[in-house]
Amino acid sequence: MHSQSVRTAVVPAAGLGTRFLPFSKAVPKELAPLVTTPTIEFVVTEAADNGIERLLVVVSPGKQALADYFAPRPDLEQALTDKGDIESLESVRRAAALLEVAFAEQGEPRGLGDAVARAERFCAGRPFAVLLPDDLIDERDDLLADMLTVHAEHGGVVLGLIDVGREAISAYGCVAPVAGDDGDVVAVADLVEKPAAADAPSTLAMIGRYVLPPEIFDALRETPPGSGGEIQLTDGIRRLVAQGVPAHGVVFRGRRYDTGNRLEYVKAIVQLAERHPQIGEEFGAWLRGHVGAEGGRG
Ligand code: UTP
Repeated sequence: MHSQSVRTAVVPAAGLGTRFLPFSKAVPKELAPLVTTPTIEFVVTEAADNGIERLLVVVSPGKQALADYFAPRPDLEQALTDKGDIESLESVRRAAALLEVAFAEQGEPRGLGDAVARAERFCAGRPFAVLLPDDLIDERDDLLADMLTVHAEHGGVVLGLIDVGREAISAYGCVAPVAGDDGDVVAVADLVEKPAAADAPSTLAMIGRYVLPPEIFDALRETPPGSGGEIQLTDGIRRLVAQGVPAHGVVFRGRRYDTGNRLEYVKAIVQLAERHPQIGEEFGAWLRGHVGAEGGRG
């Protein structure tokens, strides 16, 4: 065992959410429902399931509704109690009961690296996980658990990766594994943001799961704005790797939903609706009929 156990997580949720406009003009996209559960609740559940005890959500000034979601609603809870609607009562209390949730503000969307930098005090000199709320890992598959195991052994940086193939790698941050590493845990020699397919050092792309050491905060302070004028988390991590901080990647081969993208968001809803305890069977039957009818255009 190498390092301290990870009990803290940061959920950056201060982006503009432009792909979900106009809806996200007034409601944070992290509250967009997957059937009836806000997307952020999935990532908070994943954190709690993996032993995280304290979680900081970084929000922009317009996203007060996210804090409201995790706050008690005594009037609603009383009304549900009076009605004897225990199922609904438990559903509204669930998110806040999972773990301790705190909030920090990122005044302007200056990038993911800048959002993570807001968590320095909260992380109090200890390693922590960063979980992007758009990126959902199916609860039947493990990623964070494996990343925490790798972190316990090696310390340093641990990155969640997927193999996207050469044709897609230019859309992602890509890792250069140490020569010869090609298993499901790779030592990382460097990171390359959006490489051309022909130049990519691998087909392994970073997704929204990181375990980071507290040294990332100094690295982010020294990181100038990069692509799009934003402080990129990837640039901060690169700096750590260049300083000799160990970095590993865990290649995830399970089910994942990128709900920050409209098409994948709709696919996630369909898949969760098919498995839903109350509506799943009926929805599945309807869906098969719908797709069968006139090629699904009926
Ligand atoms: P995205 O690049 O997906 O941006 O951010 P976005 O604002 O969420 O969505 P689009 O692209 O405008 O549609 C990745 C993650 O980083 C957070 C976002 O909230 C999201 O969880 N983020 C990004 C911040 O917290 N602050 C920033 O300045 C930028």
